[in-house]
Amino acid sequence: MFDALAPQPDDPLLALIGLYRADARPGKVDLGVGVYRDETGATPIFRAVKEAERRLVETQPTKAYVGPEGDPVFLERLWDLTAGEAGRGRAVAGLQTPGGSGALRIGGDLLVRLGVKRIWLGMPTWPNHASIFQAAGLEIATYPFFDIPSQSVLFERMVEALSGAAPGDAVLLHASCHNPTGANLSAEQWRAVTDLIAARGLMPLVDIAYQGYGRGLDEDAAGLRMLLAAVPEMLVAVSCSKSFGLYRERTGAIYAACGNADAVPALRSNLAALARVNYSMPPDHGSAIVSTILGDEALKADWMAEIEAMRLRITAIRERLAAGLSRRWQVATAIREQEGMFSLLPLEAADVLKLRAEQAIYMPTSGRINIAGLKTAEVDAVIEKFLSL
Ligand SMILES: Cc1ncc(COP(=O)(O)O)c(C=O)c1O
Repeated sequence: MFDALAPQPDDPLLALIGLYRADARPGKVDLGVGVYRDETGATPIFRAVKEAERRLVETQPTKAYVGPEGDPVFLERLWDLTAGEAGRGRAVAGLQTPGGSGALRIGGDLLVRLGVKRIWLGMPTWPNHASIFQAAGLEIATYPFFDIPSQSVLFERMVEALSGAAPGDAVLLHASCHNPTGANLSAEQWRAVTDLIAARGLMPLVDIAYQGYGRGLDEDAAGLRMLLAAVPEMLVAVSCSKSFGLYRERTGAIYAACGNADAVPALRSNLAALARVNYSMPPDHGSAIVSTILGDEALKADWMAEIEAMRLRITAIRERLAAGLSRRWQVATAIREQEGMFSLLPLEAADVLKLRAEQAIYMPTSGRINIAGLKTAEVDAVIEKFLSL
């Protein structure tokens, strides 16, 4: 039976890593990666994470199972970080998950259990969104979100498309630092989307995977919090991969906020049942680290200082890139207003391949670049290479 399986297409981003590694040219630049990189090109372990790990090694009493729902203290602390004031006192059921991807999958599974048939995804979005929700059994519908040539959010078209969603349909929104475009909704646009979701009775699922990388920890959750305060029911999928640099520890959570506290026990038991049939129990090391950091004032302050420094590095490179590229490409001024690690440049696949072949600049043919893949010292040279196109 195994012989009959057709091989799956390579993940283009993973294939790109292989090509980059095999390139012997000095000065090659990798803008394809999906992880934060510092000035030395490393993806560092946060100081606070190292310290929390040291404490855990010394004090953790057991490695016994945590239970399908995970650690309630972790869930409470992460919810507070994500939802802030809007989440305090709100009836909510949370589940510790293997990363943000696990949170999205359990969220998709829960939607199917609730009888939801369809989820609306903005175009473009992180490609795994469609794969995950399709695998969960949801039908994918799309709304226009971003126009690449003009580098602008297609807000009117987004509203028009979502106005055609049926009550009970789910809508996926990126909290901030949109992947792959870096473009985000303004406060007024969040208000309008909130009103539309409430008026049409849609179920929002907000994906928050880059909190702290855009405008700040609270600012990056402001739209999510506005929505949370206004709608009776909502799902939030949190990833700690970037915010805590815990990529391989698979750390995240899914939360179902509801208007009625009586619904919480059944929600909790359904979330736990979904975990049970997927992977049984979540990994705990990353969650224990996050919980240790968020529960200790000094560690939390150090983590906040480090993520702020990362944010400022990304913002500074964005500004240099926007200023340099807009000398020739007017539209590149938008890169400054965009936020988080990614921007989606208006390049044809042929341009991307030319940059790769002639200038050793690596990015996927979509034109998505990771700003954090650039070192300050090489920004000017990279700008010239782009402008040589
Ligand atoms: C928009 C978005 N959501 C969720 C995730 C999931 O991250 P992870 O499963 O590594 O926590 C990612 C990762 O790249 C992402 O870009």
